[in-house]
Amino acid sequence: MKNASAAYEYHDRTKHRPHRYAPSLGYMDWATQPDPFRTYPECARIGLAHDNTTPPFHLLFAAGMLPRAPLCLESLSGLLRYSLGLAAIKRHGGSEWALRCNASSGNLHPSECYVVSPPLEGVSEKCTLSHYASRDHALEIVHTYDAPVIEGGFLILLSSAMWREMWKYGERSWRYCQLDAGHAYASIKTAATMLGWECSIVPSDTADLARRFGLDQLERFHPQERESPDLLIRIAQPRHSLPYPPPLARANRLSPSHHQWDAVWEIDEAALGPYPQPEPLNRVRRCPAPSKSAGEVILKRRSAQAMDGSSVTETQFRQILDASFFCTEAPDVDFIVFVHRVEGIESGLYAYVRDPGRLPQLRDAMDPDFDWLEAGEGLYRLNRGDYRGAAQYLSCNQTIARDAAFSFGMLCRFDAVLAESGVPGYKNLYHQCGMIGQMLYLEATSLGLSATGIGCFLDDEFHTLLGLSGTPYQSLYHFTVGRAIVDTRIATLMPY
Ligand SMILES: Cc1cc2nc3c(=O)[nH]c(=O)nc-3n(C[C@H](O)[C@H](O)[C@H](O)COP(=O)(O)O)c2cc1C
Repeated sequence: MKNASAAYEYHDRTKHRPHRYAPSLGYMDWATQPDPFRTYPECARIGLAHDNTTPPFHLLFAAGMLPRAPLCLESLSGLLRYSLGLAAIKRHGGSEWALRCNASSGNLHPSECYVVSPPLEGVSEKCTLSHYASRDHALEIVHTYDAPVIEGGFLILLSSAMWREMWKYGERSWRYCQLDAGHAYASIKTAATMLGWECSIVPSDTADLARRFGLDQLERFHPQERESPDLLIRIAQPRHSLPYPPPLARANRLSPSHHQWDAVWEIDEAALGPYPQPEPLNRVRRCPAPSKSAGEVILKRRSAQAMDGSSVTETQFRQILDASFFCTEAPDVDFIVFVHRVEGIESGLYAYVRDPGRLPQLRDAMDPDFDWLEAGEGLYRLNRGDYRGAAQYLSCNQTIARDAAFSFGMLCRFDAVLAESGVPGYKNLYHQCGMIGQMLYLEATSLGLSATGIGCFLDDEFHTLLGLSGTPYQSLYHFTVGRAIVDTRIATLMPY
């Protein structure tokens, strides 16, 4: 059994409670607002192409239907454009801000992306390590390897510049960095699938990853702006052997000064080590009906700021839940769903059990008065009733949880995962939830609906509603789906 005491301690102190939110500054310190874009000003830049042809979205989920793209700069460009690239520029009054393909808590985008490439025409005759500069859709060549370190595919490292989230969210921000990393991973997996490439997480020791990507070179970053290694991702079928690099280029400065959040650095340090490899879910998502092109879905995905209170059909509801199975890397998560307005499904509190083997333990752990009435395909009604007010209250009073067609909490196996995998297991659970969130956003968009991830929720109030005691299960992310009210005062511009 692994020591996970740091995870339990951090988890508890960063819970939002009705009369005490997790410690944060409590106001927006605009003078220290971080730059949302990391750059390496000393590094050579390669501008990337803007290919707009993408396959139909539904074919991403029809096994083997999409041809394999060649391993070239144009394909890599498509991978990055449709995963972590800018989706739009928004303008209102005197302000402009960028939105990206991947959702991010507070639009603060802590996730950074480094690519290890084989020799590519237009880049180098040698293997390279580059940073993806999303603002300009460009690669910054951070290092050129002397030896042939990779062939047959790419490696991507996702890291977090955690200061961006700390700036607004204080101690709870580490959770958001991890959820965001999960979103970024699912975005990359979606774009890789579009290109006919395999995409998976490489089992690695994250402390070692920091060294192999030069994130441990303290002189490269302001101490508060250094990056934490999250996930190593394999794209296509790379054979690789990464050496430790020499001193690498310095990163840009994100803020003129900083606030110190020790709890975040402490949990991050404790989470370094062997990244867990949970047994993947043995379930494949169904191929949905044809809708839009993949590119349109990815670029049009937006978080709803307000919902109009209309209903969705049962088919749409079930299809959106089914989309969670695209990421078989997320096996430890079930959903507790507030059904507000789904045609054909009575309003109430439901459990969506993604792994049927978990049903008996879930039933045992929750309120013994729940009905557990089977409602088809993993869905069980726990209680009928109007949960709109409860959903709003539990989501830090956000009306999107009330005016949606349905909203839900992602309930994770907690004690068991932490016992098996320690603090890295805690980190991985957030990644699992983030992956699911990104896929559900895309599915909702493909159906002409909208969604919003909800990181602000009252942790233990939700657990109490379910009758949970102790920490066998904990909800780590909430989510809401419905029809957005679009703010027409905000103009949308092309990002590139
Ligand atoms: C982990 C996470 C937590 C979020 N929490 C909230 C939330 O509590 N309330 C909210 O209105 N939006 C929330 N969002 C949505 C973000 O604010 C949104 O993704 C961001 O502003 C970027 O906009 P976009 O999703 O349209 O690209 C969250 C998103 C993520 C990924």
